[in-house]
Amino acid sequence: MSRREVPLAPVAGVVEPSVLNENERREEVSLRPRELSEFVGQGELVAHLRIVLAAARERHQPSDHLLFAGPPGLGKTSLAAIVASEMGTTLRVTSGPVISRPGDVAALLTDLQEGEVLFIDEIHRLHRSVEEVLYSAMEDRRLDVLLGRGPSARSVRLELPAFTLIGATTRTGLVAAPLRDRFGFIGRLDLYEDADLAEIVRRSAQRLGVKVSAEGADEIARRSRGTPRIANRLLRRVRDVAQVDGVSDVNGDVARQALTLFGVDERGLDKVDRRILGLLCEQFRGQPVGLVTLAHACGEEPATIEEAYEPYLIREGLLIRTPRGRIATERAYHHLSLPIPGGGLL
Ligand SMILES: Nc1ncnc2c1ncn2[C@@H]1O[C@H](COP(=O)(O)OP(=O)(O)OP(=O)(O)O)[C@@H](O)[C@H]1O
Ligand SMILES: [Mg+2]
Repeated sequence: MSRREVPLAPVAGVVEPSVLNENERREEVSLRPRELSEFVGQGELVAHLRIVLAAARERHQPSDHLLFAGPPGLGKTSLAAIVASEMGTTLRVTSGPVISRPGDVAALLTDLQEGEVLFIDEIHRLHRSVEEVLYSAMEDRRLDVLLGRGPSARSVRLELPAFTLIGATTRTGLVAAPLRDRFGFIGRLDLYEDADLAEIVRRSAQRLGVKVSAEGADEIARRSRGTPRIANRLLRRVRDVAQVDGVSDVNGDVARQALTLFGVDERGLDKVDRRILGLLCEQFRGQPVGLVTLAHACGEEPATIEEAYEPYLIREGLLIRTPRGRIATERAYHHLSLPIPGGGLL
């Protein structure tokens, strides 16, 4: 049998992504752009998405399945919510690791209403057997379900309503090719430019009721590692300091002092970034270091180093990946005010 038959099971838990504490999560949700026109930056991706959605709307059909890929905090979940709202439909949210059995995804799919959007976060963490169920659901809107057990079990083919699947992943490389190929559009999100981040800071400040000068917004943007979520987080920390100090306007100086207090340096590097570079420069003395070794030395998970820290360090030219391992660049030594081993250029 080519199609996988899945036993029918109760609906899997629908989850909200939770990376922050409850208050911050609520605030983050309130800062989320709600329409494409509010989504700052990622110009090319937004332009393409606009076309895909407009065409689907004209055809009175749900949009093609979409995959959003990129480092954490760049707006994948926000985009999924925007797609649902632009298509005038509901977003159902779940995540790869919570769908443990084929029956869970079958229950989610059969529960969908016509035109709804199913968002699977961390789609690279789906179980193989669950992925296989998705193949026919995405392609032919069909589901083969096994009813009953043992010799009396019989197979039923269910037609699914037209729906859009949106997957999000921090690791495109880990999404199996057959699954990746079933998405009609893959949007890759890149780290943001400082000007875009400054605009995000200004908008968020307005929503939070914080007065920030242009210079203050630029300062926060420059230290946000190309990531909107970090920009919003730093804004909140700066707001805290300003509040405690009784300062009503956040200018460049206030932002600089507050962020230095929280251990964010002028390039936006935090303690962990500096630890990664420090280890490469000092402990490993400029030798290439494997990801797992580096992660152990830092006390972080290899995936965290690779997905959350490295992209910015690489973009800033502070770290390079070589086939033999990670190396800190000359710029990293300068940044940490350390002598370059052997005194030469790297
Ligand atoms: N383009 C943008 N314009 C304005 N704000 C943005 C943009 N992208 C992200 N944000 C802000 O950053 C926050 C984090 O974005 P989001 O949760 O969508 O990221 P994500 O890519 O799904 O992250 P993760 O991989 O951790 O799930 C949002 O709450 C929103 O406030
Ligand atoms: Mg997300």
